[in-house]
Amino acid sequence: MTREPVWWQRGVIYQIYPRSFADSNADGVGDLAGITSRLDYVAWLGVDAIWISPIYPSPMKDFGYDVSNYRDVHPLFGTLDDLDRLIGAALVRRLRVLLDFVPNHTSDQHPWFAESRSSKANPRRDWYIWADPRPDGSLPNNWRSVFGGSAWTLDPATGQYFYHAYLPEQPDLNWRNPAVREEMLNTLRFWLDRGVDGFRVDAVRQLCKDDLLRDNPPNLNWRAGDNPYDEVLPVYTTDRPETMEIVRLFRRVLDEYPGRLFVGELTLPIERLMRYYGASVGDAIDLPSNFHMIYAPWEAPVLKALIDGYEAALPSHAWPNWVLGNHDQHRIASRVGRPQARVAALLLLTLRGTPTIYYGDELGMVDVPIPPARIRDPFGRNVPGQERDPERTPMQWDGSRFAGFSDVEPWLPVAADAGSVNVRAQRDAPASMLSLYRRLLRLRRETPALQTGAYVAWPASGQVLAFERRLDSQRLLIVLNLDASPASYALNGARGVVLLSASGALEGQPVGGNLSLGGDEGVVIQLEG
Ligand code: NOJ
Repeated sequence: MTREPVWWQRGVIYQIYPRSFADSNADGVGDLAGITSRLDYVAWLGVDAIWISPIYPSPMKDFGYDVSNYRDVHPLFGTLDDLDRLIGAALVRRLRVLLDFVPNHTSDQHPWFAESRSSKANPRRDWYIWADPRPDGSLPNNWRSVFGGSAWTLDPATGQYFYHAYLPEQPDLNWRNPAVREEMLNTLRFWLDRGVDGFRVDAVRQLCKDDLLRDNPPNLNWRAGDNPYDEVLPVYTTDRPETMEIVRLFRRVLDEYPGRLFVGELTLPIERLMRYYGASVGDAIDLPSNFHMIYAPWEAPVLKALIDGYEAALPSHAWPNWVLGNHDQHRIASRVGRPQARVAALLLLTLRGTPTIYYGDELGMVDVPIPPARIRDPFGRNVPGQERDPERTPMQWDGSRFAGFSDVEPWLPVAADAGSVNVRAQRDAPASMLSLYRRLLRLRRETPALQTGAYVAWPASGQVLAFERRLDSQRLLIVLNLDASPASYALNGARGVVLLSASGALEGQPVGGNLSLGGDEGVVIQLEG
């Protein structure tokens, strides 16, 4: 018997970066009440769930991914009551709410770390990962921080180093310690009891490190100028075999509450990503994030190989997912250009699997150049060229001075084109990016083959990518021109009618024979028979 698809298999997730969505109290930083005030928009857009990046108390060294209290809300974002109100307001709009859970590391300002570093004998010493210097006084080993430099920082008072996969202000928890496990699992229950529908779990691949602290091997493909983190291969620091044990602990807590979703952030090659689905439905992570479309060159043969390869690699019980953008990556409209970003929207919302939309991508928001003095991201400050601020700028609600995001100068600059690229300007404009997203989301919602139908590969031709979604007798063909020049695609005897096109131009037209597509054009065709 086949299982009925669950809400997150049919649904679409919308990622909100809370600092940048809506500022209700004129301090230049977005907040929970701001999000709540914009939920009508989110519901109108037609997504099913919001994932909110971290909202917990934090010194904001990594903008919330450095948590100093797992069971409260940062005053910048509001209060627990504000979160309760948000969850209630989402519920009446049939929107689910996912929180970000950051189990790999805390802030160095977390009271646990203060205790841990206070002495070698402190009961919380073993809550973090401490190591002696080598006999010559040097670093314990060659492990690197993702954000630059060594992953070890010396604590002069106790003479030992602590490990941090990211900033020194983000010491890693020791997941081998049963008390850490218990405390963090209870944290999940704390939020689940408040009614959240699941979690996006941060940095899953980092959770366990080699207990023998072996050196990572050199990466022979690394060249001067590449990201220094990649100079060694993180085989002893990421994706360790023990990670699955921790993942299953999270899973079992989620299973205490029906219908909850477990998204796992994992930057891994496809074959290693698949392990995190576990052995059967609901055994491990529901959606191990698939970032491969972000990294792939935007070319039809490459994307076809990626999609076919990903589909083929999925275990039979696994549900796919696709991501085009997030708070760590350049915006899609900057990567491929605004006209092609319309085609990218068609791809994201017609592939098989749960899509995640990054806030503002539905407007075609682009990366905003940040003057050096205004760069806030520590990654960008440590490793030139890695700053993530450009994709984190304020949501563009209207054409007013601060784009309707805030009444005061926001924490990051507003895009120069916000006067024309904004919700108010695009809402009722049939040809806008926002209208395209909304119509695509509606089509997906109303078309079972798009929600849960099988993926059937079609040949790529030049820069044209094509595939079919099929459920019972419903067959949809998606044909996308990934280039700015016109192209044609042989339909090989298939006939149908265009339901939706990136430009809007071809809608309602019957097609057959050779399909002609303008540059940056893409179509969803209902096939006959
Ligand atoms: C992944 C998050 O997406 C990123 O923003 C953060 O800096 C790191 N994990 C560390 O938590």
